[in-house]
This record gives sequence, C-alpha cells and structure tokens, in this order.
Amino acid sequence: MARTTADPTSDRYRRSRELQARLRRAVPGGAHTYAKGDDQYPELAPGVMARGAGCHVWDVDGNEFIEYGMGLRAVTLGHAYPPVVEAVRASLALGTNFTRPSLHELECAEAFLAAIDGAEMVKFTKDGSTANTAALKLARAFTGREEVAICAQHPFFSYDDWFFCTTTMDAGIPRFVYDQTLRFDYNDLGSLRALFAQRPGRIAAVVLEPARIDEPAPGFLQGLKELCQAEGAVLVFDETITGFRWHAQGAQKLYGVVPDLSVFGKGLANGFSLSALCGRRAIMRLGSREREQDSVFLLSTTHGAETPSLAAALATMQVYRTEPVVERLHQAGERLAAGVRQAIERHGLARQVSVIGRACNLFYGTSDADGRPSQAFRTLFLQEIIRRGVIGPSFVVSYSHSDEDIDRTVDAVDGALAVYARALADGVGQFLVGSPSRPVFERR
Ligand SMILES: Cc1ncc(COP(=O)(O)O)c(C=O)c1O
Repeated sequence: MARTTADPTSDRYRRSRELQARLRRAVPGGAHTYAKGDDQYPELAPGVMARGAGCHVWDVDGNEFIEYGMGLRAVTLGHAYPPVVEAVRASLALGTNFTRPSLHELECAEAFLAAIDGAEMVKFTKDGSTANTAALKLARAFTGREEVAICAQHPFFSYDDWFFCTTTMDAGIPRFVYDQTLRFDYNDLGSLRALFAQRPGRIAAVVLEPARIDEPAPGFLQGLKELCQAEGAVLVFDETITGFRWHAQGAQKLYGVVPDLSVFGKGLANGFSLSALCGRRAIMRLGSREREQDSVFLLSTTHGAETPSLAAALATMQVYRTEPVVERLHQAGERLAAGVRQAIERHGLARQVSVIGRACNLFYGTSDADGRPSQAFRTLFLQEIIRRGVIGPSFVVSYSHSDEDIDRTVDAVDGALAVYARALADGVGQFLVGSPSRPVFERR
C-alpha cells in the first residue's frame, strides 16, 4: 500500500539526493532519458528508484508510490510482471546473442506478424526513434524522394535530426536537414494537400501517430491514405504509443486504416528494449539482400535481436492474446478520469485543471488563475500528489493498476487540489518547494 507522506523538511529522500548528485556528475542531464531528469520533477520528488512491482515502485530510501506512465509508457502490463520475468529468465540460461539468428528471432517475428494485420514483414530494433528513422530511409529509397511531412501536433517521432530540427532544441543539427522536414496539421487533410501541391514529386513519406489526444475526424486517416497513394508517398503510422494501448493489434486496427509502414515500440515487450518496423512486403523487401535493386542498409545492429527482449515480447504478446489487457487499460483510465474530474468539480477548478486524452493514455493540464497553462502549477500539483504517494507525470495506467490503486490516486488528487486552490488564492510560490519543472524541449 502506498505510504502517504512526509514532512518536506524531513530527510525522506536523503539517499536519493546523494545519488542524484553523482548521476549529474556522471551523466549529461543526470538521466539517460531527459524526461526522467531532475528538471522534470518538483524538488520534493524521489530522485532514484530501486524497484517496482505491478504499478507500485520504491525509491532508494524505501518510500513507496503508485506510479503512472511507467517506463515512459513502455511497461504496459506492470513492473516485474511474472510471466515476462519468467520468459526472460528462461532465455538468459540459453545465451543472449549468437553469430547466426536465434530461434527467438523467428518466433517473435511470426508472433508479431500474426498480431498486426497489415504487417507482411517486420524488422526489430531497440527503440522507436531508430525504427521511425529507418521507416523514413526505406520510404526515401522506395520513392526516390527526400522530403518528409510530419504531423505538427505530435511531439516526438525520433531523436534523429530529421525530427529534432522542428523543435527548439536543435543545436548540432546541420542547416540542410531543415529544408527536408515539412509539417501538416492533424485532422486537416487540406494542410497536407497544400504541401503536396507546393512540393510536387518531392515528399517521400508522411509520418504521424494515428491518434494522440484528439481522435481522428471521420475519414481523416482514410483520406491521408488515399492522398499518399495518389501522390506516390509512403504513409507511416508511428504506433510507438498507440500500438499496444489503443488496441492489441494497433490503432490501425481500431480505426480500420492500414498504413504502408508502421512502427511499434513501447508496449511491445513490457519495458524491455524492443521496437518493430513493419509493413508492406514491397517496401520492407528493400532491406533484404535478395533483390536486384539497390538494397537499403536496414536496422542492422549488434544488439538488435538479443534474446531476452525477444523473449519478453513473446511473453507480452501472449498475455495480450489471452487476457483483456486493452479493455482493462480503458476501464482503469475511465475510472481514474471520472474520479479526478469529480475532484476538480468539488474544488471548483474546472478552469484550471483538466484531464485529457483517451482513457488508456490520459494527460492532465494545469493552468493559473487566469486559465493560462502553467509549469509552476503543474509542478505544484505533481509535488502534492507525490507527497500523497503517487508519482504521476501523466495519468497513463497499466494493466496492474487495480481499482484500489485508482481510488487511492483519486484521494491523492483530491488532497493536491485543495492545495492547488489555496495556491491560486495566495500565490503558487507559497506552496511550491523549489523551482518549477521545465519543458523537455528547451533551447537553454
Ligand atoms: C510517439 C513516439 N514515437 C517515437 C518515440 C521514440 O521512441 P524511443 O524513445 O523508443 O526512441 C516516442 C518516445 O517517447 C514517442 O512517444
């Protein structure tokens, strides 16, 4: 059970603080992923985690929390989920990497292809960024064009330059890259049509998440597909998040639109490092060595198919096949959203605090007294739910969040909102300990 809190002046996080200082000295940004960094969290947050079980985590000082987001949404089933752990343990005893493909490579590829309708071939790698970049490379080779149109409202496709040149954190990116990435608007077919009209015969790929916060407008995804077909561009769905959350067969199944290529990641192996690039054989085959046409050097890395991640994916897909994972993600999210919305109403904060997104992938919004988005109030809200035993940078649930966990979270939110309301009246600085957290994409 999550322990509620502690006096902020206590030494609740003593060991965390020592280790955070060491991390900042050893690792740029103090974490191997910016979104986990100190500047993303309030000062009164645990700094270093020790372990997790289900949706509960413990920091290095022994404090227990209910967690949301879990491995940046990768851990869909739960931390240390027994069938996944057992499958990985069994694979470890057989060796992790060989000079020829392992049986796991075949079994995992076949299981994946059986799960995803539109996928005729698949290649695995370690993360969503690399797979999206590989999709773009394939599209460029397939079309003989160079430009890419990406959805302007979708915040992350890849850590590579073709995407990061569109953010404010663009130091180190050569100028020529900027000219090759164009942007269109979600649910606005006309904005993509206009790009095709301005750049005839130049756009190789159109890349977007099938959905993020807004649902696709009727006909939008189908319209994109038809437009790409008419213009000779490759349609790429980035299902890194939606893949095993919207539907066990991808959001493409839910919405009934199969793209040319798609990328799956986060939910595929319950937090083990595995992503997939998949799609039409005619395009994927460019990465094979059997053709007369020029081959694309496609996702060939030393660790691309190490066995434990493939074993984890096989076990994870098996759970998805036999248990109502996606249904439960939606139920848990709906319960949480309803409880939080009631708490928002109770505290009269409907203008300041909101819960948004699909039930399986909830975010919250925080605004100041004038209704303007506020990083300081976000940090205060996070500080106050952490104080009450919940780490929730988002409200993204897992299969392990029980109704009791959700109800405890709603209680924590209720307490946090009482502080929020007082901070609106008396000033956020009276209640926030330390500085507001910062956006991930920030130039300085
Ligand atoms: C939609 C989307 N695509 C791609 C990525 C990149 O995935 P990875 O961090 O595995 O490289 C992310 C990461 O957050 C993402 O949210």
